[in-house]
Amino acid sequence: MENFTFYSPTFFAFGKGSESDAGKYVKRFGGSKVLIHYGGGSVVRSGLLDRVKASLDGEGIPYVELGGVKPNPRSGLVYEGIKLGRDEGIDFILAVGGGSVIDSSKAIAMGIPYDGDFWDFYQGKQITEALPVGTVLTIAAAGSEGSGDSVITKEEGMFKRGAGSDLIRPKFSILNPELTQTLPPFQTAAGATDIMAHLYERYLTNSTDVEVTDRLIEALLLTMKHEAPRVIADPNNYEARANIMWAGMVAHNNTCGVGRSQDWNSHAIEHELSALYDCAHGAGLAVTMPAVFKYVMKHNVMRFAQVAVRVWGCQMDFEHPEVTALEGINALQNFLCSIGMPRNFKELGAKEEDIPKLVDVLCHGDGRGGSISGFVTLNEEDCTKIYQMMV
Ligand code: NZQ
Ligand code: ZN
Repeated sequence: MENFTFYSPTFFAFGKGSESDAGKYVKRFGGSKVLIHYGGGSVVRSGLLDRVKASLDGEGIPYVELGGVKPNPRSGLVYEGIKLGRDEGIDFILAVGGGSVIDSSKAIAMGIPYDGDFWDFYQGKQITEALPVGTVLTIAAAGSEGSGDSVITKEEGMFKRGAGSDLIRPKFSILNPELTQTLPPFQTAAGATDIMAHLYERYLTNSTDVEVTDRLIEALLLTMKHEAPRVIADPNNYEARANIMWAGMVAHNNTCGVGRSQDWNSHAIEHELSALYDCAHGAGLAVTMPAVFKYVMKHNVMRFAQVAVRVWGCQMDFEHPEVTALEGINALQNFLCSIGMPRNFKELGAKEEDIPKLVDVLCHGDGRGGSISGFVTLNEEDCTKIYQMMV
């Protein structure tokens, strides 16, 4: 196990009706004027936004609103939020929605106190200050409710890039599984896929003897394998929703990533797909992961064989561990398809002729040096082959 530091100071309020305490938590974490940030309207239709506003009113906390965050959130609305936040003297951002809303909120939180362009943070500049962010989560997926990450797409060039720091971990996150019951099945499944991807990206490590995190990840993957089909079969299954919601947080606040190197190549390869086609991130990952895993399998075949046996119930073939490894990857892909995820480019809505463009932006866009690295380093040729495997 490698040396690490871990600081994850988010306060979690979990369970039915917990959103009614939003105002109380804003006050507790120092907010006196709030920017409520939300998406394309699901929180308006469900009545959640009104309940959150009533909670702020109840605590006498003034607020302004900015809706309209799109999935795969864009830089344009972030600039708008920064301006609004400055003009209104905002000192707290309350995200009401999914990962896209939370990520946009984090970007605004970094941008308000910063003199330069907020995009600098998405090009590697260190974050030194950010306004506090709280969240009321409506979809179990990205894990942004507990993570120190934000992913934004810059409209000029459609670069989808991430920024990260403990400073942008939410001060509090309200997780009421009931709020996820209005999700369309496709979004539920895309969220489950993203959660599983966050676990796989950490499982694929070059660090040795990290048994504790291996076992945590396996437990969470087994949970997802059990609960995702239950929630697809019955969207109102509260207990299954609850397990998935907490799994999504634990999968990505880095509890499962400490003391080990991590991968994240599948995410980098997928981010070009959701940037170009505006597909759901989880759906893109369902197509990306099996191709990446098959391509890099030989780097450490036992790692893939181990997850195949421990999570997917495959029989270990000691003479041919690559057979077991491949069986596990196929089991993952079949599972994702069984909950409604796409299998290939066509089902995702991606086009083979775009591969050179995808590879170019992936390997060279926005300052990258010709390759991406994680579990293995992948150059342009590797990335081209991986995208071709998805066709
Ligand atoms: O915009 P509204 O109307 O709210 O609709 C949303 C959106 O269309 C809808 N939705 C959310 N909750 C709902 C609901 N519809 C009905 N009922 C509800 N309760 O679902 C759609 C997707 O929402 P979105 O926020 O985009 O989903 P998700 O949480 O999957 O976030 C995806 C974004 O997070 C990034 C992804 O790249 C993508 O941009 N990620 C962020 C990470 C992080 N910050 O740590 C890590 C992840 O790996 C990921 O990259
Ligand atoms: Zn993800």
